[in-house]
Order: sequence, then structure tokens, then C-alpha cells
Amino acid sequence: MKKRTNGIIIAIDGPSGAGKSTVARLLAERLGYLQVDTGAMYRAAALLISRAGLDPADLTALEEFCRNIDISLEYSDGRQTVIANGIDVTDQIRTPEMSLLTSRISSLKPVRDALLKSQRQMGNGGGVVLEGRDIGTVVFPDAELKFFLSASAEERGRRRCEELSGNGSRVTLVDTIADVIKRDRQDSDRDIAPLRQADDAIAIDSSHLSVEDVIDKMVHLYREKISSTGNHI
Ligand code: DC
Repeated sequence: MKKRTNGIIIAIDGPSGAGKSTVARLLAERLGYLQVDTGAMYRAAALLISRAGLDPADLTALEEFCRNIDISLEYSDGRQTVIANGIDVTDQIRTPEMSLLTSRISSLKPVRDALLKSQRQMGNGGGVVLEGRDIGTVVFPDAELKFFLSASAEERGRRRCEELSGNGSRVTLVDTIADVIKRDRQDSDRDIAPLRQADDAIAIDSSHLSVEDVIDKMVHLYREKISSTGNHI
């Protein structure tokens, strides 16, 4: 196993609403690791593209635009702040419209190439929990520990609806489940880096598990991995 400076790389992939962000945050806290929410980075890119009025079909303009975007994630007191080209966009990237646009633009090569580079820079030293769709397959196929977190579309829709309602959005359960299914299809059917479970990922179905159960399972597997390889930090 590769020795990284700060610890191992933990990849958590899975469809939207499976609980990846919550789990990644708590797991990173438990292990003293950095969390990288790659979905938030794609969301921020989508917001910048939409604000710039760019036509996502114009790949040449998109490539030029993406070469100059700067997206970073900051964490303090368990809260994530997303900065895009120097502006805090944390709240604006979570609307249902932005979710669908993100799913669309994240299928485009110029966008993926730009973000792939910064994700690799952030994770390369280890000591990091990265969550997304293609972490274990494309971003870090050599990640030491990979999870594929899923749940039924109904359960994921229910969780997403609760989260959006809690943020003051007016959404219905039926629409939210439909959005989840539509995004699953867009994310899984695209040509570049589709949502797929890596061959060596450990599948966890969170439909009937609490967040604590999922974390305990992951921490247990992390400890097993560390003790079997001697990769102590
Ligand atoms: O995890 P999320 O719902 O915030 O992700 C938003 C969108 O970004 C999702 O529809 C797919 C895309 N995405 C991606 O293509 N690759 C990633 N590594 C992370 C997210």
C-alpha cells in the first residue's frame, strides 16, 4: 500500500440523497481527516456557469471558462462553506434547479477536467474523506478504502425533501423522488465518469440504517484496514 503523508484516502461514492455528505462529515470528524465534498464543487461550478450566462453546449467557451474558475471548501464548527471565485455560494448551490443543472454540466469534459485536477491536489496527501460519484473509479482509483453508499430512491427522496423543507424550500415528496430518479439516470448514463460502484468498494445500503450505524461500520472497516496494512499516521 502506498504511504501517504497524512493518512489514507477514503472514497465515498453513491447516488444523490444516500447520506454521503453527513456520513463523510462525521467520519472525517471521527478520524481527524479532511472532508472534500466534490458534489459541492460541481454545484459551485454550475452556479458560476449559470451566472456567467454560458451555453453549456459551447464546449470551447466552457473550457476557457473552467480553466479560470477557483472553487474551494472551508470547514469550521462542522459547517461547510463553499467559495467560488472568491464569493460564498454555500446557500445558493442547494436549490432543486441547481441540483438538476449540476447533474447536467457535470457530464461535460471541460468541467470534469478542471475539478478533477483540484480534487486530486486536495486528496493526494491522504488523511482525507472524499465523497462524490467517481472518487473510487476515476479521481482516486488507488484509494485505500472505498465505500459505495446507497438507499432506495423513495428513502433518498424522503431525506432530500426533509432537508429542503428544513431550509425553507417549498417542495413535495413526489417531485423530490422524481428529481432523485432523474438525477440518478443522468449521473449513471453519462459517458465520462458515470456513477458506478468500484469493483473494490464496500457497498452499504443505508435505507434501514441510522447515520451512527453507518459511521460505526465505516470506522470499524477503517481500523481493520489500518491494522492490516500498518499504515499508521
Ligand atoms: O452530491 P451532490 O448531490 O451534491 O452532487 C451534485 C451533482 O454533482 C450530482 O448530480 C452529480 C455531480 N457529481 C459528479 O458528477 N461527480 C462527483 N464526484 C460529485 C458530484
